[in-house]
Amino acid sequence: MNMLKNKIPAVILVVLLCSVGIYAYTSQRVHKPIATSPVEKKVFSAKKDSVASVKAFEKVYAVLMSPRCMNCHPSGDIPLQGDDSHIHTMQPKRGVDGKGLYAMKCTNCHQPENTPGPHTPPGNPNWHLPPANMKMVFQDRTAHQLAKQLIDPKQNGNKDIKKLIEHADDGLVLAGWKPAEGLKLPPMSHAEFKKAWITWLETGAYAPQPN
Ligand code: HEC
Ligand code: HEC
Repeated sequence: MNMLKNKIPAVILVVLLCSVGIYAYTSQRVHKPIATSPVEKKVFSAKKDSVASVKAFEKVYAVLMSPRCMNCHPSGDIPLQGDDSHIHTMQPKRGVDGKGLYAMKCTNCHQPENTPGPHTPPGNPNWHLPPANMKMVFQDRTAHQLAKQLIDPKQNGNKDIKKLIEHADDGLVLAGWKPAEGLKLPPMSHAEFKKAWITWLETGAYAPQPN
Protein backbone atom coordinates (compact mmCIF):
# COMPACT_ATOMS: atom_id res chain seq x y z
CA MET A 1 0.00 0.00 0.00
CA ASN A 2 2.78 2.34 0.99
CA MET A 3 4.77 1.57 -2.16
CA LEU A 4 1.75 2.37 -4.34
CA LYS A 5 1.25 5.69 -2.55
CA ASN A 6 4.82 6.67 -3.36
CA LYS A 7 4.23 6.04 -7.01
CA ILE A 8 1.14 8.25 -7.34
CA PRO A 9 3.05 11.53 -7.98
CA ALA A 10 5.12 9.78 -10.65
CA VAL A 11 1.98 8.45 -12.35
CA ILE A 12 0.40 11.92 -12.33
CA LEU A 13 3.57 13.36 -13.85
CA VAL A 14 3.58 10.78 -16.65
CA VAL A 15 -0.09 11.43 -17.41
CA LEU A 16 0.54 15.19 -17.48
CA LEU A 17 3.52 14.87 -19.80
CA CYS A 18 1.55 12.64 -22.15
CA SER A 19 -1.37 15.08 -22.37
CA VAL A 20 0.99 17.96 -23.13
CA GLY A 21 2.57 15.87 -25.86
CA ILE A 22 -0.76 14.84 -27.38
CA TYR A 23 -2.03 18.42 -27.25
CA ALA A 24 1.10 19.74 -28.94
CA TYR A 25 0.83 17.08 -31.65
CA THR A 26 -2.87 17.56 -32.40
CA SER A 27 -2.77 21.37 -32.33
CA GLN A 28 0.09 21.26 -34.78
CA ARG A 29 -2.01 18.97 -37.01
CA VAL A 30 -5.03 21.27 -36.78
CA HIS A 31 -3.08 24.42 -37.56
CA LYS A 32 -1.13 22.91 -40.41
CA PRO A 33 -2.47 24.55 -43.61
CA ILE A 34 -4.59 22.01 -45.54
CA ALA A 35 -4.88 24.07 -48.69
CA THR A 36 -2.23 25.45 -50.97
CA SER A 37 -3.89 26.89 -54.08
CA PRO A 38 -5.56 30.31 -53.80
CA VAL A 39 -9.02 28.92 -54.57
CA GLU A 40 -8.72 26.21 -51.91
CA LYS A 41 -7.45 28.70 -49.35
CA LYS A 42 -10.48 30.83 -50.02
CA VAL A 43 -12.76 27.82 -49.62
CA PHE A 44 -11.32 26.77 -46.29
CA SER A 45 -11.13 30.28 -44.87
CA ALA A 46 -14.81 30.97 -45.54
CA LYS A 47 -17.00 30.69 -42.48
CA LYS A 48 -19.66 28.00 -42.38
CA ASP A 49 -23.07 29.61 -42.31
CA SER A 50 -26.09 27.37 -42.84
CA VAL A 51 -28.53 30.30 -43.27
CA ALA A 52 -26.45 32.08 -45.95
CA SER A 53 -25.70 28.75 -47.61
CA VAL A 54 -29.32 27.63 -47.91
CA LYS A 55 -30.33 31.10 -49.11
CA ALA A 56 -27.69 31.03 -51.86
CA PHE A 57 -28.82 27.56 -52.89
CA GLU A 58 -32.33 28.88 -53.59
CA LYS A 59 -30.85 30.89 -56.47
CA VAL A 60 -28.64 28.02 -57.60
CA TYR A 61 -31.66 25.70 -57.65
CA ALA A 62 -33.73 28.15 -59.72
CA VAL A 63 -31.00 28.11 -62.39
CA LEU A 64 -30.34 24.35 -62.31
CA MET A 65 -34.05 23.62 -62.76
CA SER A 66 -34.45 26.13 -65.62
CA PRO A 67 -34.93 24.50 -69.03
CA ARG A 68 -31.51 25.71 -70.26
CA CYS A 69 -29.85 23.44 -67.70
CA MET A 70 -32.42 20.74 -66.95
CA ASN A 71 -32.91 19.84 -70.64
CA CYS A 72 -29.43 18.28 -70.53
CA HIS A 73 -29.89 16.81 -67.05
CA PRO A 74 -33.03 14.68 -67.64
CA SER A 75 -34.15 11.75 -65.50
CA GLY A 76 -34.43 9.50 -68.56
CA ASP A 77 -31.95 8.75 -71.33
CA ILE A 78 -33.37 11.20 -73.89
CA PRO A 79 -32.58 14.95 -73.68
CA LEU A 80 -35.39 17.50 -73.34
CA GLN A 81 -36.11 20.51 -75.56
CA GLY A 82 -37.60 23.97 -75.38
CA ASP A 83 -38.97 26.14 -72.59
CA ASP A 84 -41.56 23.43 -71.79
CA SER A 85 -38.86 20.70 -71.56
CA HIS A 86 -40.60 18.26 -73.89
CA ILE A 87 -38.85 15.03 -74.99
CA HIS A 88 -36.30 15.73 -77.76
CA THR A 89 -37.80 15.09 -81.22
CA MET A 90 -36.36 12.03 -83.01
CA GLN A 91 -35.41 10.83 -79.51
CA PRO A 92 -31.59 10.77 -79.61
CA LYS A 93 -30.39 8.50 -76.78
CA ARG A 94 -27.71 9.19 -74.17
CA GLY A 95 -25.40 6.27 -75.05
CA VAL A 96 -22.54 5.17 -72.77
CA ASP A 97 -20.56 8.42 -73.08
CA GLY A 98 -23.57 10.77 -73.31
CA LYS A 99 -22.73 11.66 -76.91
CA GLY A 100 -25.51 9.71 -78.57
CA LEU A 101 -26.10 6.17 -79.74
CA TYR A 102 -25.16 4.58 -83.10
CA ALA A 103 -25.82 7.01 -85.95
CA MET A 104 -27.69 9.53 -83.73
CA LYS A 105 -24.68 11.39 -82.37
CA CYS A 106 -25.40 14.78 -80.80
CA THR A 107 -22.77 16.51 -82.91
CA ASN A 108 -24.45 15.35 -86.15
CA CYS A 109 -26.91 18.16 -85.59
CA HIS A 110 -25.40 20.30 -82.80
CA GLN A 111 -22.62 22.30 -84.43
CA PRO A 112 -19.77 24.11 -82.61
CA GLU A 113 -21.78 27.36 -82.80
CA ASN A 114 -25.51 28.08 -82.63
CA THR A 115 -27.21 27.61 -85.99
CA PRO A 116 -29.08 30.81 -86.91
CA GLY A 117 -32.88 30.72 -87.02
CA PRO A 118 -35.68 29.50 -84.78
CA HIS A 119 -35.94 25.78 -83.83
CA THR A 120 -32.35 25.09 -84.80
CA PRO A 121 -29.96 23.08 -82.60
CA PRO A 122 -27.99 25.13 -80.07
CA GLY A 123 -24.26 24.80 -80.73
CA ASN A 124 -21.23 23.89 -78.67
CA PRO A 125 -18.18 21.80 -79.65
CA ASN A 126 -18.73 19.60 -76.57
CA TRP A 127 -22.55 19.26 -76.71
CA HIS A 128 -23.57 16.04 -74.91
CA LEU A 129 -25.36 14.56 -71.89
CA PRO A 130 -23.65 13.28 -68.74
CA PRO A 131 -22.51 9.64 -69.23
CA ALA A 132 -24.65 6.55 -68.52
CA ASN A 133 -22.70 5.61 -65.36
CA MET A 134 -23.07 9.12 -63.84
CA LYS A 135 -26.30 10.67 -65.09
CA MET A 136 -26.28 13.80 -62.86
CA VAL A 137 -30.07 14.05 -62.98
CA PHE A 138 -31.62 17.44 -62.09
CA GLN A 139 -35.16 16.75 -63.38
CA ASP A 140 -37.68 16.01 -60.58
CA ARG A 141 -35.10 16.47 -57.81
CA THR A 142 -36.18 18.53 -54.79
CA ALA A 143 -33.81 21.28 -53.60
CA HIS A 144 -32.83 19.03 -50.68
CA GLN A 145 -32.07 16.05 -52.92
CA LEU A 146 -30.17 18.06 -55.51
CA ALA A 147 -28.00 19.87 -52.95
CA LYS A 148 -26.93 16.51 -51.46
CA GLN A 149 -26.33 14.98 -54.89
CA LEU A 150 -24.24 17.88 -56.21
CA ILE A 151 -21.58 17.56 -53.50
CA ASP A 152 -21.43 13.75 -53.57
CA PRO A 153 -18.30 12.78 -55.54
CA LYS A 154 -19.94 9.44 -56.38
CA GLN A 155 -22.72 11.31 -58.18
CA ASN A 156 -21.06 14.52 -59.43
CA GLY A 157 -18.25 13.10 -61.55
CA ASN A 158 -15.70 12.96 -58.70
CA LYS A 159 -15.63 16.69 -58.10
CA ASP A 160 -14.32 18.21 -54.88
CA ILE A 161 -15.38 21.71 -53.78
CA LYS A 162 -12.62 23.34 -55.84
CA LYS A 163 -13.64 21.48 -59.03
CA LEU A 164 -17.29 22.30 -58.39
CA ILE A 165 -16.45 26.00 -58.11
CA GLU A 166 -14.50 25.81 -61.38
CA HIS A 167 -17.47 24.12 -63.06
CA ALA A 168 -19.38 27.42 -62.89
CA ASP A 169 -17.31 28.48 -65.92
CA ASP A 170 -17.65 25.15 -67.78
CA GLY A 171 -18.40 25.52 -71.49
CA LEU A 172 -21.76 23.73 -71.26
CA VAL A 173 -22.83 25.81 -68.24
CA LEU A 174 -21.99 28.98 -70.18
CA ALA A 175 -23.96 27.56 -73.14
CA GLY A 176 -27.07 27.95 -70.96
CA TRP A 177 -26.70 31.72 -71.42
CA LYS A 178 -26.33 31.41 -75.22
CA PRO A 179 -29.57 29.61 -76.09
CA ALA A 180 -30.91 29.06 -79.58
CA GLU A 181 -33.16 31.78 -81.00
CA GLY A 182 -36.49 32.27 -79.24
CA LEU A 183 -35.57 30.41 -76.02
CA LYS A 184 -35.61 31.99 -72.55
CA LEU A 185 -32.43 32.74 -70.61
CA PRO A 186 -31.90 31.23 -67.13
CA PRO A 187 -33.65 33.31 -64.40
CA MET A 188 -30.54 35.41 -63.54
CA SER A 189 -27.24 36.49 -65.10
CA HIS A 190 -24.27 34.12 -65.18
CA ALA A 191 -22.40 36.43 -62.79
CA GLU A 192 -25.24 36.31 -60.28
CA PHE A 193 -25.47 32.51 -60.59
CA LYS A 194 -21.72 32.10 -60.12
CA LYS A 195 -21.78 34.28 -57.01
CA ALA A 196 -24.63 32.23 -55.48
CA TRP A 197 -22.92 28.95 -56.47
CA ILE A 198 -19.63 29.93 -54.81
CA THR A 199 -21.40 31.32 -51.72
CA TRP A 200 -23.38 28.10 -51.35
CA LEU A 201 -20.24 25.94 -51.60
CA GLU A 202 -17.97 28.13 -49.49
CA THR A 203 -20.36 28.57 -46.59
CA GLY A 204 -20.71 24.82 -46.12
CA ALA A 205 -22.90 23.57 -49.03
CA TYR A 206 -25.88 23.08 -46.73
CA ALA A 207 -29.00 21.41 -48.15
CA PRO A 208 -32.40 23.05 -47.63
CA GLN A 209 -34.83 21.11 -45.40
CA PRO A 210 -36.53 18.17 -47.17
CA ASN A 211 -40.14 18.97 -48.11
C1 HEC B 1 -25.42 20.25 -73.58
C2 HEC B 1 -25.84 19.68 -72.36
C3 HEC B 1 -25.65 20.45 -71.06
C4 HEC B 1 -26.18 21.67 -70.73
C5 HEC B 1 -26.96 22.62 -71.62
C6 HEC B 1 -25.88 21.87 -69.34
N1 HEC B 1 -25.15 20.82 -68.84
FE1 HEC B 1 -24.45 20.59 -66.93
N2 HEC B 1 -23.45 18.92 -67.48
C7 HEC B 1 -23.47 18.36 -68.75
C8 HEC B 1 -22.51 17.28 -68.79
C9 HEC B 1 -22.18 16.44 -70.00
C10 HEC B 1 -21.92 17.21 -67.51
C11 HEC B 1 -20.82 16.27 -67.05
C12 HEC B 1 -19.50 16.89 -67.33
C13 HEC B 1 -18.53 16.79 -66.23
O1 HEC B 1 -18.73 16.05 -65.26
O2 HEC B 1 -17.53 17.53 -66.29
C14 HEC B 1 -22.54 18.25 -66.71
C15 HEC B 1 -22.25 18.48 -65.38
C16 HEC B 1 -22.77 19.51 -64.64
C17 HEC B 1 -22.48 19.76 -63.25
C18 HEC B 1 -21.54 18.97 -62.38
C19 HEC B 1 -22.16 17.73 -61.94
C20 HEC B 1 -22.85 17.78 -60.65
O3 HEC B 1 -23.91 17.13 -60.56
O4 HEC B 1 -22.34 18.42 -59.73
C21 HEC B 1 -23.15 20.87 -62.89
C22 HEC B 1 -23.15 21.53 -61.53
C23 HEC B 1 -23.85 21.34 -64.06
N3 HEC B 1 -23.62 20.49 -65.10
C24 HEC B 1 -24.61 22.48 -64.08
C25 HEC B 1 -25.24 22.98 -65.23
C26 HEC B 1 -25.90 24.27 -65.29
C27 HEC B 1 -26.01 25.25 -64.15
C28 HEC B 1 -26.37 24.41 -66.56
C29 HEC B 1 -27.17 25.55 -67.15
C30 HEC B 1 -26.71 26.90 -66.97
C31 HEC B 1 -25.98 23.20 -67.29
N4 HEC B 1 -25.30 22.37 -66.44
C32 HEC B 1 -26.27 22.98 -68.62
C33 HEC B 1 -24.26 18.74 -69.81
C34 HEC B 1 -24.97 19.94 -69.87
C1 HEC C 1 -31.28 14.85 -85.69
C2 HEC C 1 -30.66 16.05 -85.18
C3 HEC C 1 -30.34 16.09 -83.70
C4 HEC C 1 -29.64 15.17 -82.95
C5 HEC C 1 -28.99 13.88 -83.40
C6 HEC C 1 -29.59 15.72 -81.61
N1 HEC C 1 -30.26 16.92 -81.56
FE1 HEC C 1 -30.58 18.04 -79.90
N2 HEC C 1 -31.67 19.38 -80.99
C7 HEC C 1 -31.89 19.30 -82.34
C8 HEC C 1 -32.72 20.43 -82.75
C9 HEC C 1 -33.19 20.72 -84.17
C10 HEC C 1 -32.98 21.19 -81.59
C11 HEC C 1 -33.81 22.47 -81.46
C12 HEC C 1 -35.25 22.12 -81.41
C13 HEC C 1 -36.17 23.29 -81.18
O1 HEC C 1 -35.75 24.32 -80.63
O2 HEC C 1 -37.33 23.16 -81.55
C14 HEC C 1 -32.31 20.49 -80.49
C15 HEC C 1 -32.37 20.88 -79.18
C16 HEC C 1 -31.73 20.23 -78.13
C17 HEC C 1 -31.80 20.61 -76.75
C18 HEC C 1 -32.63 21.75 -76.19
C19 HEC C 1 -31.82 22.94 -75.86
C20 HEC C 1 -32.59 23.91 -75.03
O3 HEC C 1 -31.96 24.85 -74.53
O4 HEC C 1 -33.79 23.78 -74.85
C21 HEC C 1 -31.03 19.76 -76.03
C22 HEC C 1 -30.81 19.76 -74.55
C23 HEC C 1 -30.46 18.83 -76.97
N3 HEC C 1 -30.92 19.13 -78.24
C24 HEC C 1 -29.59 17.82 -76.61
C25 HEC C 1 -29.15 16.85 -77.50
C26 HEC C 1 -28.27 15.78 -77.11
C27 HEC C 1 -27.65 15.63 -75.74
C28 HEC C 1 -28.09 15.00 -78.20
C29 HEC C 1 -27.31 13.70 -78.28
C30 HEC C 1 -27.61 12.68 -77.29
C31 HEC C 1 -28.87 15.59 -79.27
N4 HEC C 1 -29.49 16.72 -78.81
C32 HEC C 1 -28.97 15.08 -80.56
C33 HEC C 1 -31.43 18.32 -83.19
C34 HEC C 1 -30.71 17.19 -82.81
